[in-house]
This record gives sequence, C-alpha cells and structure tokens, in this order.
Amino acid sequence: MFSKSGKGKDVATPRICDVVWHDGEFIKWNDARVHVMSHVLHYGSSVFEGIRCYATKRGPAIFRLREHMQRFLNSAKIYRMDHEWKIDDFCDASVELVRRSGLELGDEAIEKGVDVCVSSWNRLTPNSLPAMAKSGANYMNSQLIKMEALLNGFAEGIALDDRGYVSEGSGENIFTVSNGIVNTPPLSSSVLPGITRDSVIQICRELGITIKERTIQRAALYVADELFFSGTAAEITPIRTVDRIQIGSGERGEITAKIQKVFFEITSGERQAPGPWLTYVSEQRARAANQPATGTADNDGNSKAEKSGGSSVTPTMETKLVARAAR
Ligand SMILES: Cc1ncc(COP(=O)(O)O)c(C=O)c1O
Repeated sequence: MFSKSGKGKDVATPRICDVVWHDGEFIKWNDARVHVMSHVLHYGSSVFEGIRCYATKRGPAIFRLREHMQRFLNSAKIYRMDHEWKIDDFCDASVELVRRSGLELGDEAIEKGVDVCVSSWNRLTPNSLPAMAKSGANYMNSQLIKMEALLNGFAEGIALDDRGYVSEGSGENIFTVSNGIVNTPPLSSSVLPGITRDSVIQICRELGITIKERTIQRAALYVADELFFSGTAAEITPIRTVDRIQIGSGERGEITAKIQKVFFEITSGERQAPGPWLTYVSEQRARAANQPATGTADNDGNSKAEKSGGSSVTPTMETKLVARAAR
C-alpha cells in the first residue's frame, strides 16, 4: 500500500471488537483468518459494507443499518454469491457486534473543508464493473484515485465517468450547490448508491431545498457556489478547492452547513429522522448475546462455517463498523 510520502506502508487493520461474526457464529478475532490461496485475495471477489455507529443519549445507535444491509445483499446478488442469510441475520449480528465491542467514541473536525483534484483515473464503466455493487474489486480503482491525489498533495480525488461527467470521490459521493439548488450525479454516472447520499437527498426534501440528480460537467465543479462530499466515513465534508481553484468563498457554504447540521442532529438522535434511521443497540433484543466467542458445533457436530461454505465464488462478506461520537 502507498503512503502520502510515496513510500510503501502497511495499512493497519483496525481492531474494533474481540470477536468477528463468521457464518452465524461469533469467533475470536485471531481465529478469523483467510488462506493465502483464497479466491477473494487474488481476485477481489468480496462484497462488504462500511457502517457507522453514533453515540447518542440512548446509547450507541447504528446509522441506517437496514439500508446498508440491503445494499450488502444487492452486492452479493449482482455477483451471484450464494448464501443462506436474511437481512435480519446481518442486522442482528451487527447490533450484537457493537454490543460486544463496547465502542462509544471517535471524532474529527469537518468544518473547514478539503482540497481535492479531478483524478486522471476514470470511474468504472457500467459494463465493466458495476459501481452499484460495493465489491472489493472496485476499490482498486478507488485506491488509484486516492493515491494519485495524496501524492499530488490533495486530500481526495474526484473521478469522472467514462463519458467525462463527474462521478464521485474514491470513497464518497459528491454534491454541488449552484444558485440554491443542490445537484448530485445520477447512478448512471457510475456512482455507488451511497446511504449518506440518500440521507442528504431526503434531508434536502425535508428542508425544502431543491435537489436534482443530474449529470455534472467537470467545469461545473469549479464554478459551483458550494461543493461537498457525503459518505459513511466522510459524513458531510465541504470541499474548499478543486484543482487549486477556490470554490465559492473558500469556506463551508451556507447550504452545506445547514444540511450538515441537520445530518448531525439526526445521527446524534436529537432530531427526528425522515425514517427509522437509527438502530439503538441497547434497545434491541439481545438475540445472540449468549453465544460464545468461539466457534460452536451444531447437532451434527459440524461447524456451521464448514457446512455453509459452498458458494461458487468463495465470497468473503465482511462488515466494518466505525464508531464516532455525537457532536
Ligand atoms: C466509492 C464510494 N462512493 C460513495 C460512498 C458513500 O457511500 P455511503 O454513504 O453508503 O457510505 C462510498 C463509501 O462507502 C464509496 O466507497
């Protein structure tokens, strides 16, 4: 892996919990391994999700868990991955993992905005790799975009689609604000259907701000009044320059600030969300709470993991949970 300095660097695996959910069982962190010859390692044949858990007055709350798990299942379906799991299984497992992790924290400032560039790398073409699946393989494209940006002194790169229209960042969706209207590229511009993107769209509707999904030219980025990224990791991050061109006043714009404020009010549980967006961990039924943190055998004496491992492409389904504090 590459670092900002251009020198090789290992990316540490964040350990967020002592256990890992593996095919219906909670196994010890150190027992969760893949073989060096596994398909997923060589061919990127994984699908995954990145989900945030917020600290609220009612305890940890997972943001839009069901929507993330629906996208997870969609990604698996697109790649013909066979499995026996239902959306509730994944939701329950996530709740239980957060419960076991004891996580409550983490914070970062996202007021000032970031300096970004337009990448020389294009986003995936719809007929090569489906951008709407969150598959491991797609992230080689993301890494090229990100590495180039970092090496050139930017925080992030914006990729164009194969036609030259704005697509998204390496790990974020993008929004422009021009003349009071909020715009974001449509899914046909090879963007991941971001859960945060959808949240921004719904928040705009609630606030009476006009929101349009439409193709965006690169030049429209430079002349926008405001720009911001959305994503589970980025949350809502203002963009202050693109290719060293100042966007608007060079500070977080008024509409961006308004959307950001409402977003954080919702994620902290202080404001009613447009839907059931928060899963309060401590208020969920402790379905799997008594399961041991080691592999257990079923009535046949076989580990469930061995029994269910029959997929044609050896999928590795992984859920990453990121915790952050309420503002
Ligand atoms: C390529 C890409 N686009 C957009 C996003 C934002 O999606 P979400 O809001 O669901 O995190 C992500 C993050 O997962 C991503 O990796």
